[in-house]
Amino acid sequence: MKKQMLVAGLLLAAVSTVSAAQGADGKAVYEANCKKCHGATGVPSAGIKKMNPKIEDLNAAFFKTRTDADLIKQITEGKDKMKPFKDKLKADEIVAVAKYMRTLGK
Ligand code: HEC
Repeated sequence: MKKQMLVAGLLLAAVSTVSAAQGADGKAVYEANCKKCHGATGVPSAGIKKMNPKIEDLNAAFFKTRTDADLIKQITEGKDKMKPFKDKLKADEIVAVAKYMRTLGK
């Protein structure tokens, strides 16, 4: 229940970020926190894939099957070897990086 409320809160932040003139820089957040595992273009290196067999290429096919809420939940709470970012990133940074990720799939 608590987790669902957190996700709901982040979605609310997402909605207000869209209307805000300036939000967090999703690309900068990605490069500082995500690139080392997910790769500059969303495709993990062979070495990372070997260590994390469940990691997927973040391409158009991947994003088709994930909603923004799915992405935000994963980044907030983490899963398996991906640690949660809820204590590392602010809500607007999580939303911005989720948005930026989608541009990698294009
Ligand atoms: C330490 C390596 C590591 C870092 C750093 C990392 N991830 Fe991940 N990520 C993973 C792994 C491993 C998975 C696959 C987890 C699984 O499904 O078991 C994953 C999965 C994902 C997924 C897919 C979830 C799904 O729906 O299947 C998203 C989205 C994601 N990461 C976003 C991010 C973002 C954004 C950041 C930076 C804020 C980040 N990751 C940082 C290792 C990492």
